[in-house]
Amino acid sequence: MGKDSLSIIDNRTDKTYELPLTNGNIRSMDLRQIKKDADDFGVMGYDPAFLNTASCQSKITYIDGDRGILRYRGYPIEELAEKCTFLEVAYLLLNGELPTAPELDAWVDLVTHHRMLHETTKAFLEGFRYDAHPMTMLISTVAALSTVYKDARNIFDLNSRRLNMVRLISKMPSMAAYAYRHSLGFPYVYPDDLLSYTENFMTMLFKMVEPKYVAHPVLARALDILFILHADHEQNCSTNVMRSVGSSQADPFVCTAAAAAALSGPLHGGANEEVLKMLDEIGTKANIPAFIDKVKTGKGKLMGFGHRVYKNYDPRARIIKWTADQVFAVTGKNPKLEIALELEKIALEDEYFVKRKLYPNVDFYSGIIYQAMGFRPEMFTVLFAIPRTVGWLAQWEELLTDPEQKIARPRQVYTGYEARTVVPIEERSQQPVAAL
Ligand code: CMC
Repeated sequence: MGKDSLSIIDNRTDKTYELPLTNGNIRSMDLRQIKKDADDFGVMGYDPAFLNTASCQSKITYIDGDRGILRYRGYPIEELAEKCTFLEVAYLLLNGELPTAPELDAWVDLVTHHRMLHETTKAFLEGFRYDAHPMTMLISTVAALSTVYKDARNIFDLNSRRLNMVRLISKMPSMAAYAYRHSLGFPYVYPDDLLSYTENFMTMLFKMVEPKYVAHPVLARALDILFILHADHEQNCSTNVMRSVGSSQADPFVCTAAAAAALSGPLHGGANEEVLKMLDEIGTKANIPAFIDKVKTGKGKLMGFGHRVYKNYDPRARIIKWTADQVFAVTGKNPKLEIALELEKIALEDEYFVKRKLYPNVDFYSGIIYQAMGFRPEMFTVLFAIPRTVGWLAQWEELLTDPEQKIARPRQVYTGYEARTVVPIEERSQQPVAAL
């Protein structure tokens, strides 16, 4: 039986170092003892974009990207999507265990109670132009809530921290609905305590002048399932931002705004909106081969395909396809589905995609469902941010309670000039500007 350690020989000095392995990994700090001489800083790992660096230990979400497995607190995503509500899953992510019936009732009551937004929120929104993107409005409005709840700075006071986490989870749909209504020029709709999390959200979005808007139960459940699928995904770009900003001990509202900003990019949560634009650009099935050829020659990407961790079918995409069938039975098929299915079929057989293990990810089909449910594409990333707030907060609290964590501060490998002196301006000759 071998030892749980790694031996490294420094060929510059012929010295051997034995680094312990914990859970199969070395600690990067252990590399620092490897030095050329006493003045040497020591060896670091160079890892742009964190391809092979674990920044934390976490008990929340498990992904096996090669086998297409996703679990929250040990429970397979497929089972959670089938048997639980979004708020049940939120409780699980935040507390580590599924709630009992009385615990769930108390939790739902609590989240329901905090849906209302302070009236000043309307004033923040009035400041935006009529055509402002709802995701950008959401990011700014979440940050602005920090001005309303100043107690949110007490992040090490458990009661205060938990209260502000609940406020965020409760108010995200309300803010999202307000942002959407603002972009349409419609009056805001206040939350209704008699409705479930998703029914209330749909009412706040879609209610017009009818005395009572009733969300279709199949669509409300489909949205609930989509929220479950998006609730957490371990250390992705936005979660890393949440943890990084959180490590400076900033309050949860501004941390969430920063995480949402990271989510808005087209390579992350913004991809669902881009998929719809791509399907519009392709237009008909006949244009698919030409589009695929364009992607293969490096002119654009197949949006909604590929993942840093999944090198197999994204398990969320499989559940989304099933959910799509339920939604389309109510709304009628989104004509873009045919193009998406054909695109997927061709891509999964094409050597370019097969070789690179590029499969549909969560964003490939979600937009098609959202559009069929009546959401405009600008809302798609907002619909991602609402449930992901739960994951961000669970990860943020785990960070705050982890004694090993400190302020996040990566190292760099400096490749610029050695020290030089400033030449007086009249003596300077024009130099080619250093590449930025
Ligand atoms: N279309 C065409 N080629 C692709 C794609 C794609 N969607 N994704 C990756 N590739 C190619 C890439 O060009 C590279 O090729 P080569 O080895 O010849 O240079 C190879 O596959 C490996 O890609 P990578 O860029 O090194 O992979 P990454 O792990 O850095 O990026 C990704 C992951 C998700 C950013 C990328 O796959 C991508 O841009 N996909 C499209 C955007 C998208 O759908 N994003 C949503 C991700 S899932 C939900 C979420 O995180 O929010």
